[in-house]
Amino acid sequence: MSPGPADRDALRELLRQPYAARILLSAVELDLFSPCTPGPSTADQVAAACELDPRATGVMLEALVGLGLMVRTGQGFAAGPLASRHLAGHSPEPMHGMVFHYLHQWGRWSQLSDVVRSGRCLPRDGQPRRMHRDFVRAMDDNKAHLALAAMLPIPLDGVRRVVDLGGGPGTLAVALTRALPEVEVTLVDRPPTLAVAASRVPPELWGSRVIPLAADLCGDDPLGQGYDLAVLSAVLHAHPPQAAAWMVGQAVRSLAPGGRLVIRELLLDDTDPERAMDAAVFSVSLLINTEGGRSFRQDEIQAWMRAAGLEALEVLPVERGVALVGRRPL
Ligand SMILES: C[S@@+](CC[C@H](N)C(=O)[O-])C[C@H]1O[C@@H](n2cnc3c(N)ncnc32)[C@H](O)[C@@H]1O
Repeated sequence: MSPGPADRDALRELLRQPYAARILLSAVELDLFSPCTPGPSTADQVAAACELDPRATGVMLEALVGLGLMVRTGQGFAAGPLASRHLAGHSPEPMHGMVFHYLHQWGRWSQLSDVVRSGRCLPRDGQPRRMHRDFVRAMDDNKAHLALAAMLPIPLDGVRRVVDLGGGPGTLAVALTRALPEVEVTLVDRPPTLAVAASRVPPELWGSRVIPLAADLCGDDPLGQGYDLAVLSAVLHAHPPQAAAWMVGQAVRSLAPGGRLVIRELLLDDTDPERAMDAAVFSVSLLINTEGGRSFRQDEIQAWMRAAGLEALEVLPVERGVALVGRRPL
């Protein structure tokens, strides 16, 4: 268990954290970092460039200095190294998908008390298409910089055919095809997500080595057969336990004898207290955003894996969670 806040000051610190996050979200939404990259620009210049109130812009820029994201110079404000790299409109490694995803979530999290009173998640109907696109971009922003081994910590010798179930923007598929010239990845997801993936996977891979396949993993849509490796990364948690167990069964049925299934999740009972805390907080996001989804425990997922016929179960740490691995018998 995480040690948690130790005293009044730590509690107050916890309460103040959302202010810092909100300043960052609005700074990116209003594009304050662009005129300051490389900068410097005065508050009046930033206000003019972004069509904002000059006094309010000055207050925001000072706050960003306080947060260590801007630097004040004799001539005005310049974005710090991290903001220059990730947060300006022309940054080389933009994280705008992630920032806009959190911006969309801000309003939804404000309704948490109502969600807990009613026990019902918030509707998704009527959400702008942009919100879904930012969710898919955020998944890519989360992982595109990672080494393959940080996403998939298993030996990959002899692996040729992979199915990435709920593969989202295709981040893992691209990393696999880049690292292993013989590998072909079937990228399974819902049609709107595959439409975003099509714009993010390099065209020379799309349709040849990264093969899109639209399917609902909760149903019995065909997923293909005879894969050496199936991956369910950050997918199960969006569904109630029964549906998650069904998906594990579907994944196992798609494997060749001897093929492996890798499930990546944040686990409530992770032995690492930071990751366990992350899983518990993430579960609240799933309460708000999904019908019956939550973070699971290791024993729940491994019971589904055994019931689906997998053996030689392993647990390996990965970036933000663990990988649960099992093999289909020969
Ligand atoms: C949080 S994202 C994870 C994406 C990627 N696997 C990763 O690890 O970054 C979950 C993905 O699973 C997909 N997904 C969830 N439920 C699904 C279902 N029933 N059928 C098809 N895809 C589904 C979502 O559309 C989304 O792309």
